[in-house]
Amino acid sequence: MDILKIEHLSKTYGKGETAVKALDDVSFTIKKGEFVAIIGPSGSGKSTMLHLLGGVDRPTSGKVFIDNTDIYNLDETQLAIFRRRQIGLIYQFYNLIPVLTVEENITLPLLLDEHKVDQKQFADTVKLLNLENRLHHLPNQLSGGQQQRVSIGRALISNPSIMLADEPTGNLDSKNSSDIIDLLKMFNKTYNQTLIVITHDERIALQADRVITIEDGRVAKDEVIRP
Ligand SMILES: Nc1ncnc2c1ncn2[C@@H]1O[C@H](COP(=O)(O)OP(=O)(O)OP(=O)(O)O)[C@@H](O)[C@H]1O
Ligand SMILES: [Mg+2]
Repeated sequence: MDILKIEHLSKTYGKGETAVKALDDVSFTIKKGEFVAIIGPSGSGKSTMLHLLGGVDRPTSGKVFIDNTDIYNLDETQLAIFRRRQIGLIYQFYNLIPVLTVEENITLPLLLDEHKVDQKQFADTVKLLNLENRLHHLPNQLSGGQQQRVSIGRALISNPSIMLADEPTGNLDSKNSSDIIDLLKMFNKTYNQTLIVITHDERIALQADRVITIEDGRVAKDEVIRP
Protein backbone atom coordinates (compact mmCIF):
# COMPACT_ATOMS: atom_id res chain seq x y z
CA MET A 1 0.00 0.00 0.00
CA ASP A 2 1.26 3.47 -0.88
CA ILE A 3 1.22 5.77 2.14
CA LEU A 4 2.67 8.71 0.25
CA LYS A 5 2.37 9.82 -3.34
CA ILE A 6 3.79 12.99 -4.85
CA GLU A 7 2.86 14.13 -8.33
CA HIS A 8 4.77 16.69 -10.39
CA LEU A 9 5.89 18.53 -7.31
CA SER A 10 7.69 21.84 -7.92
CA LYS A 11 8.77 24.63 -5.63
CA THR A 12 10.16 27.99 -6.69
CA TYR A 13 11.32 30.44 -4.04
CA GLY A 14 11.14 34.15 -4.84
CA LYS A 15 10.16 35.88 -8.05
CA GLY A 16 11.75 37.30 -11.21
CA GLU A 17 15.55 37.76 -11.25
CA THR A 18 16.11 36.13 -7.86
CA ALA A 19 13.73 33.17 -8.30
CA VAL A 20 15.21 29.79 -7.30
CA LYS A 21 13.67 26.59 -8.61
CA ALA A 22 14.40 24.37 -5.61
CA LEU A 23 12.24 21.42 -6.69
CA ASP A 24 11.50 20.65 -10.32
CA ASP A 25 8.67 18.26 -11.26
CA VAL A 26 9.33 15.42 -8.83
CA SER A 27 7.03 12.39 -8.70
CA PHE A 28 7.30 9.16 -6.70
CA THR A 29 5.44 6.93 -4.28
CA ILE A 30 6.49 5.47 -0.94
CA LYS A 31 5.01 2.30 0.51
CA LYS A 32 3.73 2.01 4.04
CA GLY A 33 6.54 0.89 6.33
CA GLU A 34 9.33 1.74 3.90
CA PHE A 35 12.58 3.24 5.23
CA VAL A 36 13.79 5.72 2.61
CA ALA A 37 17.03 7.70 2.73
CA ILE A 38 17.21 10.97 0.77
CA ILE A 39 20.71 12.00 -0.24
CA GLY A 40 22.21 14.63 -2.54
CA PRO A 41 24.49 17.67 -2.59
CA SER A 42 23.93 20.77 -0.47
CA GLY A 43 21.31 23.01 -2.06
CA SER A 44 19.83 20.21 -4.19
CA GLY A 45 16.35 20.57 -2.69
CA LYS A 46 16.21 17.84 -0.03
CA SER A 47 14.90 19.95 2.85
CA THR A 48 12.48 21.72 0.51
CA MET A 49 11.08 18.33 -0.48
CA LEU A 50 10.80 17.10 3.11
CA HIS A 51 8.93 20.26 4.10
CA LEU A 52 6.49 19.72 1.25
CA LEU A 53 6.01 16.06 2.22
CA GLY A 54 5.31 17.15 5.78
CA GLY A 55 2.80 19.88 4.99
CA VAL A 56 5.10 22.53 6.43
CA ASP A 57 5.26 24.59 3.24
CA ARG A 58 3.08 24.79 0.11
CA PRO A 59 4.29 23.69 -3.34
CA THR A 60 4.32 26.06 -6.32
CA SER A 61 2.65 23.26 -8.27
CA GLY A 62 1.97 19.55 -7.93
CA LYS A 63 0.28 17.41 -5.32
CA VAL A 64 1.10 15.46 -2.18
CA PHE A 65 -1.18 12.60 -1.11
CA ILE A 66 -0.74 11.08 2.33
CA ASP A 67 -2.90 8.07 3.03
CA ASN A 68 -5.04 9.21 0.05
CA THR A 69 -5.57 12.72 1.43
CA ASP A 70 -4.60 15.50 -0.99
CA ILE A 71 -2.95 17.51 1.78
CA TYR A 72 -2.66 20.84 -0.03
CA ASN A 73 -6.39 20.70 -0.70
CA LEU A 74 -6.90 21.18 3.04
CA ASP A 75 -7.26 24.67 4.47
CA GLU A 76 -4.61 25.95 6.94
CA THR A 77 -6.44 24.74 10.04
CA GLN A 78 -7.20 21.31 8.61
CA LEU A 79 -3.61 20.98 7.41
CA ALA A 80 -2.21 21.90 10.83
CA ILE A 81 -4.36 19.24 12.47
CA PHE A 82 -3.51 16.65 9.81
CA ARG A 83 0.19 17.37 10.25
CA ARG A 84 0.07 17.01 14.03
CA ARG A 85 -1.73 13.68 13.84
CA GLN A 86 -0.12 12.01 10.85
CA ILE A 87 3.41 13.36 10.58
CA GLY A 88 6.36 13.31 12.92
CA LEU A 89 9.12 15.79 12.11
CA ILE A 90 12.68 15.72 13.41
CA TYR A 91 15.31 18.35 12.65
CA GLN A 92 19.08 18.56 12.98
CA PHE A 93 18.87 21.27 15.65
CA TYR A 94 15.98 19.64 17.55
CA ASN A 95 13.62 22.69 17.48
CA LEU A 96 12.50 22.20 21.07
CA ILE A 97 10.68 24.97 22.92
CA PRO A 98 13.26 26.37 25.38
CA VAL A 99 10.84 27.41 28.13
CA LEU A 100 9.05 24.06 28.26
CA THR A 101 10.30 21.03 30.18
CA VAL A 102 11.10 17.69 28.56
CA GLU A 103 7.69 16.37 29.54
CA GLU A 104 5.92 19.46 28.19
CA ASN A 105 7.87 19.42 24.93
CA ILE A 106 7.00 15.76 24.32
CA THR A 107 3.30 16.11 25.09
CA LEU A 108 2.81 19.46 23.34
CA PRO A 109 1.30 18.02 20.11
CA LEU A 110 -1.40 16.26 22.15
CA LEU A 111 -2.16 19.35 24.24
CA LEU A 112 -2.47 21.47 21.10
CA ASP A 113 -5.01 18.95 19.85
CA GLU A 114 -6.79 18.94 23.21
CA HIS A 115 -6.14 15.21 23.44
CA LYS A 116 -5.48 13.60 26.76
CA VAL A 117 -2.03 12.18 27.32
CA ASP A 118 -2.11 8.40 27.51
CA GLN A 119 0.03 8.00 30.64
CA LYS A 120 1.04 4.46 29.82
CA GLN A 121 2.17 5.37 26.33
CA PHE A 122 4.00 8.41 27.70
CA ALA A 123 5.77 6.32 30.34
CA ASP A 124 6.71 3.65 27.78
CA THR A 125 8.02 6.27 25.36
CA VAL A 126 10.22 8.12 27.87
CA LYS A 127 11.55 4.81 29.15
CA LEU A 128 12.50 3.77 25.65
CA LEU A 129 14.10 7.15 25.02
CA ASN A 130 15.96 6.87 28.31
CA LEU A 131 14.61 10.24 29.51
CA GLU A 132 12.87 9.12 32.69
CA ASN A 133 15.29 11.09 34.87
CA ARG A 134 15.12 14.26 32.79
CA LEU A 135 11.37 14.94 32.56
CA HIS A 136 11.50 18.23 34.48
CA HIS A 137 14.65 19.57 32.86
CA LEU A 138 14.66 22.32 30.24
CA PRO A 139 16.21 21.67 26.81
CA ASN A 140 19.33 23.77 27.58
CA GLN A 141 20.04 21.46 30.52
CA LEU A 142 20.34 18.44 28.22
CA SER A 143 23.04 16.97 26.00
CA GLY A 144 22.59 17.00 22.22
CA GLY A 145 21.67 13.31 22.12
CA GLN A 146 19.10 13.83 24.90
CA GLN A 147 17.60 16.83 23.12
CA GLN A 148 17.26 14.81 19.95
CA ARG A 149 15.57 12.00 21.89
CA VAL A 150 13.07 14.57 23.23
CA SER A 151 12.33 15.70 19.69
CA ILE A 152 11.79 12.06 18.71
CA GLY A 153 9.44 11.67 21.68
CA ARG A 154 7.48 14.73 20.55
CA ALA A 155 7.32 13.32 17.01
CA LEU A 156 6.19 9.86 18.23
CA ILE A 157 3.62 10.81 20.85
CA SER A 158 0.73 11.12 18.39
CA ASN A 159 1.60 7.81 16.67
CA PRO A 160 2.14 9.40 13.26
CA SER A 161 2.00 7.20 10.19
CA ILE A 162 5.05 8.94 8.70
CA MET A 163 8.26 10.05 10.37
CA LEU A 164 10.28 12.67 8.49
CA ALA A 165 13.80 13.49 9.66
CA ASP A 166 16.10 16.17 8.23
CA GLU A 167 19.68 15.21 9.13
CA PRO A 168 18.63 14.01 12.59
CA THR A 169 22.17 13.00 13.47
CA GLY A 170 23.95 15.91 11.77
CA ASN A 171 24.85 17.45 15.10
CA LEU A 172 25.71 14.29 17.06
CA ASP A 173 28.78 12.12 17.61
CA SER A 174 28.85 8.62 16.15
CA LYS A 175 27.61 6.82 19.29
CA ASN A 176 24.62 9.16 19.69
CA SER A 177 24.01 9.00 15.93
CA SER A 178 23.73 5.26 15.86
CA ASP A 179 21.47 5.28 18.96
CA ILE A 180 19.12 7.74 17.25
CA ILE A 181 19.03 5.79 13.99
CA ASP A 182 18.47 2.52 15.90
CA LEU A 183 15.49 4.10 17.68
CA LEU A 184 13.97 5.35 14.44
CA LYS A 185 14.55 1.96 12.80
CA MET A 186 12.96 0.20 15.75
CA PHE A 187 9.73 2.18 15.29
CA ASN A 188 9.95 1.62 11.56
CA LYS A 189 10.28 -2.16 11.90
CA THR A 190 8.11 -2.74 14.99
CA TYR A 191 5.19 -0.45 14.17
CA ASN A 192 5.57 -0.34 10.39
CA GLN A 193 5.95 3.42 10.65
CA THR A 194 7.14 4.88 7.36
CA LEU A 195 10.54 6.53 7.81
CA ILE A 196 12.08 9.13 5.51
CA VAL A 197 15.51 10.42 6.51
CA ILE A 198 17.68 13.06 4.83
CA THR A 199 21.30 12.28 5.53
CA HIS A 200 24.83 13.07 4.45
CA ASP A 201 26.01 9.96 6.29
CA GLU A 202 26.57 7.02 3.98
CA ARG A 203 26.41 4.54 6.88
CA ILE A 204 22.86 5.68 7.56
CA ALA A 205 21.81 5.68 3.92
CA LEU A 206 23.02 2.10 3.54
CA GLN A 207 20.67 0.95 6.30
CA ALA A 208 17.60 2.13 4.37
CA ASP A 209 15.36 -0.01 2.17
CA ARG A 210 15.63 2.54 -0.61
CA VAL A 211 17.86 5.52 -1.43
CA ILE A 212 16.60 8.48 -3.45
CA THR A 213 19.27 10.86 -4.76
CA ILE A 214 18.21 14.46 -5.40
CA GLU A 215 20.26 16.68 -7.70
CA ASP A 216 19.26 20.13 -8.94
CA GLY A 217 15.72 19.72 -7.63
CA ARG A 218 15.14 16.44 -9.47
CA VAL A 219 15.34 12.73 -8.68
CA ALA A 220 18.71 11.68 -10.12
CA LYS A 221 18.58 8.10 -8.79
CA ASP A 222 16.05 5.93 -7.01
CA GLU A 223 17.57 2.68 -5.81
CA VAL A 224 15.97 -0.18 -3.88
CA ILE A 225 18.52 -1.69 -1.51
CA ARG A 226 16.23 -4.10 0.34
CA PRO A 227 13.10 -5.12 -1.54
N1 LIG B 1 13.20 30.09 2.06
C1 LIG B 1 13.96 30.13 0.96
N2 LIG B 1 14.02 31.23 0.17
C2 LIG B 1 14.76 31.25 -0.94
N3 LIG B 1 15.51 30.23 -1.38
C3 LIG B 1 15.51 29.10 -0.64
C4 LIG B 1 14.75 29.00 0.56
N4 LIG B 1 14.94 27.76 1.09
C5 LIG B 1 15.79 27.13 0.25
N5 LIG B 1 16.12 27.92 -0.80
C6 LIG B 1 17.00 27.57 -1.94
O1 LIG B 1 16.48 26.38 -2.51
C7 LIG B 1 17.52 25.48 -2.86
C8 LIG B 1 17.31 24.15 -2.17
O2 LIG B 1 17.46 24.33 -0.77
P1 LIG B 1 17.29 23.13 0.28
O3 LIG B 1 17.35 23.74 1.63
O4 LIG B 1 16.09 22.35 -0.07
O5 LIG B 1 18.62 22.27 -0.03
P2 LIG B 1 19.18 20.99 0.71
O6 LIG B 1 19.33 19.90 -0.33
O7 LIG B 1 18.38 20.66 1.90
O8 LIG B 1 20.66 21.44 1.14
P3 LIG B 1 21.54 21.10 2.46
O9 LIG B 1 22.10 19.71 2.24
O10 LIG B 1 22.59 22.14 2.46
O11 LIG B 1 20.64 21.17 3.66
C9 LIG B 1 18.82 26.18 -2.49
O12 LIG B 1 19.36 26.76 -3.64
C10 LIG B 1 18.40 27.22 -1.49
O13 LIG B 1 19.23 28.35 -1.55
MG1 LIG C 1 18.74 20.70 3.98
